[in-house]
Amino acid sequence: MHLLSIRELPKEDIETLLKLSLEMKTAWQKQQPLPSFAGKVVGMMFMENSTRTRVSFEQAARRLRLDTCTFGVMGSSMRKGESLKDTVLTLMHEGIDALVIRHHCSGAPYLAARCFHGPVINAGDGMHEHPTQALTDGMTILERKGKINGLKVAIVGDVLHSRVARSNMWLLSKMGADVHLVGPRTLMPRLAGRLPATLHYDLFPALEGADVVMALRLQKERMGQGLISSLGEYASMYQINQRTIRFAAEDCLVMHPGPMNRGLEFDDRVPDGPQSVIHQQVENGVYVKMAVFTWLFEGSKAKHEVAV
Ligand code: NCD
Repeated sequence: MHLLSIRELPKEDIETLLKLSLEMKTAWQKQQPLPSFAGKVVGMMFMENSTRTRVSFEQAARRLRLDTCTFGVMGSSMRKGESLKDTVLTLMHEGIDALVIRHHCSGAPYLAARCFHGPVINAGDGMHEHPTQALTDGMTILERKGKINGLKVAIVGDVLHSRVARSNMWLLSKMGADVHLVGPRTLMPRLAGRLPATLHYDLFPALEGADVVMALRLQKERMGQGLISSLGEYASMYQINQRTIRFAAEDCLVMHPGPMNRGLEFDDRVPDGPQSVIHQQVENGVYVKMAVFTWLFEGSKAKHEVAV
């Protein structure tokens, strides 16, 4: 079993993972027994920069007594020209039991899964998907709103380059949310009509009455030239700030997967304001990864083990 995308994950598995994540949180906070995978080693292959995703996988592993072996492109033989396939096979023969992989190429975790003997977890691949971030966001919404079904969720900004947006629109729509995407035309996916979401190019109709507003970072590292006229103009049209957030529901949640750029997708106030759940997202990221490890290593047995 692997976790490669949300698009391909059945709704029942999403529900199981969300439930298990909430159970992990309760068990951790009440100091109840957690599953233990002592003796297993997880390879953390990070071929792109990461702070919260990498650290949260490491934290989750530690809490479940998993050992980790972290490496990135700078410290690995991929710098010497070794292919992804040969790197994965090397790790497998060195006794790595599971692989967490972040890669700049969309689809790289699928290639890894084809040659690796154990579970592979996609920790973000190019512009494709970021399944654990969507599970984290889904868990946070569930905690704060008690449901996902029927909520209006506005995802704002650079949707085209965002794997977070893609995973979230699949997860939230499968769970019954009404998903709205908004951003400049040049930063919207080409076949957007086939996505389970409503598209907008003006901020206000997307924000109007929204229960959740999810801002995205401009992924400058994945952008060609000429997609936006200027950062200032982008901010004036799409920034979530004290003025624009008033269009959303009064009790709306403000979310961001991080890292955020204050002054661009946000002003300096809203991410620290009462509606912001950004720190809760970061914390929940650890419980989600605990749930994912448990689900992959133990399948349906996992639920039984955390229920003390
Ligand atoms: C995101 C990512 O790397 O896809 N961050 C994350 O993992 N929480 C979003 C981003 O880089 O903008």
